[in-house]
Amino acid sequence: MITNIKKELEEEHEFKVSYIDNQGNGVSLSNNKKFLIPGALKDETVLAQPMKIINRKVYCKLTKIKFPSNFRIKEDCSKFITCGGCNFRQVNNSWLQNWKLKKLLQKTDSLKIQKKILPMTTLKNNSRRRATFSANYQNGRLNIGFISRFQEKIIDLKVCKVLDKNLLRLYNYLKNNLERSIKKNINFKIQINLVDNGSDIVFDLLKGSFKNIFEIDNLISDLISESVLRVSFKEGNKIFSFPLHGEVRNKLGILNNKTIFTFPPPGGFLQPTKSGETEIIKYVLSGIKGSKKVADLFCGSGTLSIPISENAKMMCVDSNIDSLSGLKDGLKFHNKIDKSEVIHQNLLHVPISYQVLNEMDSIVINPPSKGAFRQIKEIIKSGVKIIVYVSCNINSFERDALILLNNGYELEWIKPIDQFPNTNHLEIVSKFNMVKSEKI
Ligand SMILES: C[S@@+](CC[C@H](N)C(=O)[O-])C[C@H]1O[C@@H](n2cnc3c(N)ncnc32)[C@H](O)[C@@H]1O
Repeated sequence: MITNIKKELEEEHEFKVSYIDNQGNGVSLSNNKKFLIPGALKDETVLAQPMKIINRKVYCKLTKIKFPSNFRIKEDCSKFITCGGCNFRQVNNSWLQNWKLKKLLQKTDSLKIQKKILPMTTLKNNSRRRATFSANYQNGRLNIGFISRFQEKIIDLKVCKVLDKNLLRLYNYLKNNLERSIKKNINFKIQINLVDNGSDIVFDLLKGSFKNIFEIDNLISDLISESVLRVSFKEGNKIFSFPLHGEVRNKLGILNNKTIFTFPPPGGFLQPTKSGETEIIKYVLSGIKGSKKVADLFCGSGTLSIPISENAKMMCVDSNIDSLSGLKDGLKFHNKIDKSEVIHQNLLHVPISYQVLNEMDSIVINPPSKGAFRQIKEIIKSGVKIIVYVSCNINSFERDALILLNNGYELEWIKPIDQFPNTNHLEIVSKFNMVKSEKI
């Protein structure tokens, strides 16, 4: 029996797992406390070592499965659970898709929209094309990897089933070669985006100047040999970029018989997988079909604005000035800048007002995971006929969708896209139509 915190953190215990929470942790309840056990499945009896307590929840490391679930399979990665990247590798894909769908159904229960959920699109292993690694250089030794789930420790990735093979190859190259270009002991982050013609690297320096940390000439000639397109160094709010192999272009596909691209800025947002991006664009374009004036709220560097601008006038809004500069490059490249308005605004604090929005035929909204509560309040007042909401968080989506449904909108469909295989996350694209105009 567990009696005090200190003891809880010292000893391995036996737990019966009651359910899996939204983050994918097995949960056991004992002594009015929640024990969260990543990797454990419902109804299993397991041994686990309490590791840390956050908000009265005790996070435990799974050490032994005494009575396994019928759904358990042998995981295919030795770093599973420790590395912190995947939540699920101990179940097969169809189990995980069912779990995500059930979660979507439970979460949207209040919305009464179950019958409008389209079949889920799933993606392959090794499809993730962006990642941020932690790096530590101490006395000639360099470690690069993901931060461990339980300790402040960098986990080496050697083989990873989630990352795109080219990203993994570049990771391995940096792991084996970067130390010869580092001059002093330092912790930093390495952010890599893969686009079709190569990779884009940002070294995010927590302190110090890149000139004092790296042997720049060495580093640049190494990265050129690896076909890196651009390297940048982030020092606080400042970013210093060096183009190496030409432009960083993200090919979105072919529209109106021409290839269209975005130009993501250093470290800029990129949908995590290429095929997920293609699927999102397809559903967004079908959702706004026929619209001649479209607002793209939380537009980033234009993954959605650029394809939409092929057939519509655009109003594009985001708070990231670098992404907007990439977006403008994209709009110029496609000769759409003259019929587009690009606005730099913090939409979570100051939403675009309904008087501005009500000129639109449709609104596309793709907020960060916390959703867009204030902006949705303006949207319902605008009475715009079509809203396409793209979300990576079904909790905030449920809250925002309920506001739309309670204010004259009806859901036409929701498309689940499993952009994050082996994790608890799910991307959705949804279309709402105004059925009862509240236009002010
Ligand atoms: C999920 S991304 C979507 C980007 C774009 N639709 C795409 O597919 O590439 C969310 C975007 O919201 C932007 N963002 C985050 N917080 C914001 C805020 N407070 N106001 C406006 N934009 C914000 C980010 O810069 C990012 O571009």
